[in-house]
Amino acid sequence: MLHSALLNVMIKAARKAARSLKRDFGEIENLQVSLKGPGNFVSAADRRAEEILREELLRARPGYGFIGEESGRHEGADKTHTWIVDPLDGTSNFLHGIPHFAISIGLERESAIVAGVVYNPITDELFIAERGKGCFLNDRRLRVAARVRLADAIVACGLPHHGRGDLEQFRKEIATVQAQVAGLRRFGAAALDLGFIAAGRFDIYWERNLLPWDMAAGLLLVREAGGFVTDLDGGDAMFTKGHIAAGNETLHRDLLRVLKDAAKSS
Ligand code: IPD
Ligand code: CA
Ligand code: CA
Repeated sequence: MLHSALLNVMIKAARKAARSLKRDFGEIENLQVSLKGPGNFVSAADRRAEEILREELLRARPGYGFIGEESGRHEGADKTHTWIVDPLDGTSNFLHGIPHFAISIGLERESAIVAGVVYNPITDELFIAERGKGCFLNDRRLRVAARVRLADAIVACGLPHHGRGDLEQFRKEIATVQAQVAGLRRFGAAALDLGFIAAGRFDIYWERNLLPWDMAAGLLLVREAGGFVTDLDGGDAMFTKGHIAAGNETLHRDLLRVLKDAAKSS
């Protein structure tokens, strides 16, 4: 399949960083048995992957700005374009040897995401999207699922843990959603959760306490697959509010309503 020059740059960078992550992931199993665990090793793997991405992306587009989870914000001469990058989304999975993690690269142009790549190096699943040009998984065009009944829906979410997020609020939400849907999943990589929505594997997804690099590429995947993505108030402030809901038009609307009901429950 022929891609635009822009997507080629993003795909090349993702594949190069993926080779490094994949090599490091191969070491993880050996480290599980040590008392110290693979923590420091994983942080180094994460940083290495981001360095590769920054180098590749800025070599191809020297003026663009860059925001990476590990290295923070780097201003570019071109104030209209910014790469938004998570070199390793799903760190806990990686750390535990669970092969569900991804590299996520979004390109923001004047406050809108215009291109996104999410790549799982282990399964070799490459999700790509460019604004107005559709969403593809390994060159197959994606559409969000057509299901319209909550009772049939597989719902993905994020779990707040270990000092992060409002546990009480989440318990109310999960209890209210759980009672109405076919199944709940928590896979642990937001970028892939959004890719799975685009692919129609998950029907709806919501999560709080996210950061822009968790969502930037993924939200475009969903929109280009015909889905809806908003913050939990139905607006477009996902990056500033840090929460997100995604799905087809009907289920997305229903999910927002159910979460509002949850807030009223005791
Ligand atoms: C995390 C993952 C996870 C989500 C967390 C994120 P990281 O990103 O996307 O699914 O629940 O909130 O921080 O730390 O693995 O890059
Ligand atoms: Ca992340
Ligand atoms: Ca990360």
